Amino acid sequence: MNNTGRTDAKAVNQGVAPVTYGTGDRPPRGDYASARSDFTCDQFWERYTAQDHDLYRRLYERQAAQLPGLACDEFIEAVQHLGDPRRIPRFDELSAALTKATRWQIVAVPGLIPEEAFFALLAQRKFPVTGWLRSPDEFDYVVEPDVFHDLFGHVPLLFNPLFADYMQAYGAGGLKASRLQACEYLARLYWYTVEFGLIHTPAGLRAYGAGILSSAAELRYSVTSPEPQRLGFDLTRIMRTRYKIDSYQASYFVIDSFRQLIAATAPDFAPYYRQVAVAPELAPDARVATDRKL
Ligand code: PHE
Ligand code: FE
Repeated sequence: MNNTGRTDAKAVNQGVAPVTYGTGDRPPRGDYASARSDFTCDQFWERYTAQDHDLYRRLYERQAAQLPGLACDEFIEAVQHLGDPRRIPRFDELSAALTKATRWQIVAVPGLIPEEAFFALLAQRKFPVTGWLRSPDEFDYVVEPDVFHDLFGHVPLLFNPLFADYMQAYGAGGLKASRLQACEYLARLYWYTVEFGLIHTPAGLRAYGAGILSSAAELRYSVTSPEPQRLGFDLTRIMRTRYKIDSYQASYFVIDSFRQLIAATAPDFAPYYRQVAVAPELAPDARVATDRKL
């Protein structure tokens, strides 16, 4: 799940898909009529076909094979919690294990949901996971987050106590950002950490972002390609930086540790938002003098 879902009205499900930006002319997939007012719905696990389970297994195996040397240890350790890769997990079973580990839950949603609804769920330590799985012709690339991206990309690190707390803090911060009209700045932080974050480790650069970890080709690209720029984590710089949703990232931001990420995001963001609002926006591939290039 990413939080590019956007709506102007109060974030209450009214049976129609939220308006999203940047995703093209096709409306979001998913049956919003089946969702509750907070946008959660049933997983409808029985509706997955044998072909769905098989596609999930192939996606899982392709990604799992790539993790050594590219994913951070915290992710590799946690990915086993997803259980038997031969079937799409039942969210309620996974949720029970997650609640034991970090007091988080997994809830099903029809697809992308509005920002406010998304923030509200995270603030309650509920992670929204899309019910539907991509089709076989989307094996290599899917535009919107599906159940594979949401589960494989996001759920493992929710078993990590530090990262679990970061995600809740992000949700609470999102509710505040909505009141301050700063959602776009906060969405960029999500994008460049939760979705596309890289981390320094003693063994070298590794990925912790869900968008990278669930991607067939960007995982290796983000960690090893000489093409993109990799910059040291810089909170307000990130808040100013636009991102691409339809290609590999031109810039990745690298944290030294989850503790650094949590410490850097602990202060009240209100003064940062005011600062960023009057600073020029930066293109995805921009370079600025204060960048720490790695
Ligand atoms: N400290 C942020 C605020 O005051 C909240 C936040 C924490 C946002 C962690 C993102 C991540 O808004
Ligand atoms: Fe996501």
